[in-house]
Amino acid sequence: MSRVAFVTGGTRGIGRAISARLKAAGYRVAAGYAGNEVAAQACADELGVLVVKGNVSSFADCASAVARAERELGPIDVLVNNAGITRDAVLHRMTETQWNDVIHVNLASIFNMCRNVIEGMRERNYGRIINISSINGQKGQVGQANYSAAKAGMIGFTKALAQENAKKGITVNAIAPGYIDTEMVAAVPKTVLDQIVSGIPVGRLGMADEIARCVAFLAAEDAGFITGATLTVNGGQYITG
Ligand code: CAA
Repeated sequence: MSRVAFVTGGTRGIGRAISARLKAAGYRVAAGYAGNEVAAQACADELGVLVVKGNVSSFADCASAVARAERELGPIDVLVNNAGITRDAVLHRMTETQWNDVIHVNLASIFNMCRNVIEGMRERNYGRIINISSINGQKGQVGQANYSAAKAGMIGFTKALAQENAKKGITVNAIAPGYIDTEMVAAVPKTVLDQIVSGIPVGRLGMADEIARCVAFLAAEDAGFITGATLTVNGGQYITG
């Protein structure tokens, strides 16, 4: 029986590439989405994955999304916490709403999702949790105190959860993408983005599938000795030890 994967924010950008990769690798895939029905329908039609609507910043929505995916596909073996937003502003102009939205969607969401799958994974002695962090959680970025805090928080969460579940066959890892060619990055002002790209040693943005292949690697059954790690995938923009 093939394994079941749930990808939050799985119908657009990096998440869609992850859904496509996992589906092609033989997983039964549920792709979560917040509200873009057109993208969700396209994902369902073109990839043949189950699309599940819900707000990852709501614990109740996550509980019902997990329940629906498990009802339709089976117990979740692989959880990819990918959903994320930006609300960029320098802190001296950032509103409380910009702060709260990013912390809730990008960070509180991983509690909401993990809490709803972890007991089942522990009972079954198997699980793969992959948290999509960011280069900007590792190095910080002007205009992203909210996003950098949330993405750094995901890395600490990953390390704690990895230790709690290592003896239960569950691995918990983070991936820290650099600047990837998605709608999110396209929203960065062109002059700022040009400057950022000039600082990427490989000389280009990353592609969503270059992150998806890392997810597939960490999700595999034979990746059981990798846990608590952060895989940096950024074209050499920020080299971590
Ligand atoms: N270092 C220090 N200060 C800087 C700075 C820098 N590099 N660039 C700008 N500032 C300061 C300015 O001096 C200015 O200060 P004052 O208000 O005191 O004058 C302040 O920041 C605002 O600057 P601007 O008026 O020029 O700019 P703005 O307010 O219109 O926009 C910004 C600022 C929102 C940060 C904008 O530059 C921006 O969007 N930057 C891109 C941020 C970014 O990289 N986002 C990534 C999105 S993609 C993503 O997040 C995916 C991922 O994981 C990588």
